Amino acid sequence: MNGGNSLRTPIIIANWKMYKTRAEAASFCDAFLPLIADNNDVDAVICAPFTQLDVLQNRLSASNVAYGAQNFYPVAEGAFTGEVSLPMLQELGVQYVIVGHSERRELFKEDNALVQQKVKAAYTAGIQPILCVGERLDQREAGETIAHCAGQMLSAMEGLSEAELLTLIVAYEPIWAIGTGKTATAADAQEVISALRSAVAEKYGNTVADAVRFQYGGSVKPENIAELMAQPDIDGALVGGASLKPDSFAQLVNYQK
Ligand code: PGA
Repeated sequence: MNGGNSLRTPIIIANWKMYKTRAEAASFCDAFLPLIADNNDVDAVICAPFTQLDVLQNRLSASNVAYGAQNFYPVAEGAFTGEVSLPMLQELGVQYVIVGHSERRELFKEDNALVQQKVKAAYTAGIQPILCVGERLDQREAGETIAHCAGQMLSAMEGLSEAELLTLIVAYEPIWAIGTGKTATAADAQEVISALRSAVAEKYGNTVADAVRFQYGGSVKPENIAELMAQPDIDGALVGGASLKPDSFAQLVNYQK
């Protein structure tokens, strides 16, 4: 179990971003599944590009690994060239979706209003959102980290029911630590996540705050996962680069072993 509340099952999520062919996704699953087959203590999820979702549906349906998407547009259907809807993801058995990743916010100009709409739409469709928040380096240097991240988080939580809030997953990903090899120290990550949990408690009460699962993301790798997961408020990790190889992602999922 992690250092925190044992009621919160640890959750380790792969964010494959725009990597892998369908054949590579299939061979990843074949190599990965035997390595984590006896691990029922951790929720493991792979969030893949749309073109790989049916491959994951085939390979993972009978396993203890779930799969998710990295994006969608929150309208059921319509003239939205290039977009994919939640009913389309439901058709592929998708259980999770990443919302508000900093790459979507920065490169594709997704703002808090759209993120809020997407979180609610995902819940309504029965797909679990993974809400990402995080500060830029200049915001950290200006001492704005907690206010910025709490603002992103609380805005995205507007309009959710208590039942929805209880299952929320929030990934704290400092932008300066993503893909850079620079990890926030475990103590820094704990400090921010503990402040975010307190912000949830203040607005929604302790029952919700104790149930929300907080992940850290940003250069998580086999060498630093144990220290991060030992922090009392860190319940999981959202992992980019180190999730692309079966051995390395298996070591992350098996961090307790
Ligand atoms: P990284 O990416 O692990 O490659 O830093 C994390 C993420 O962007 O979710």
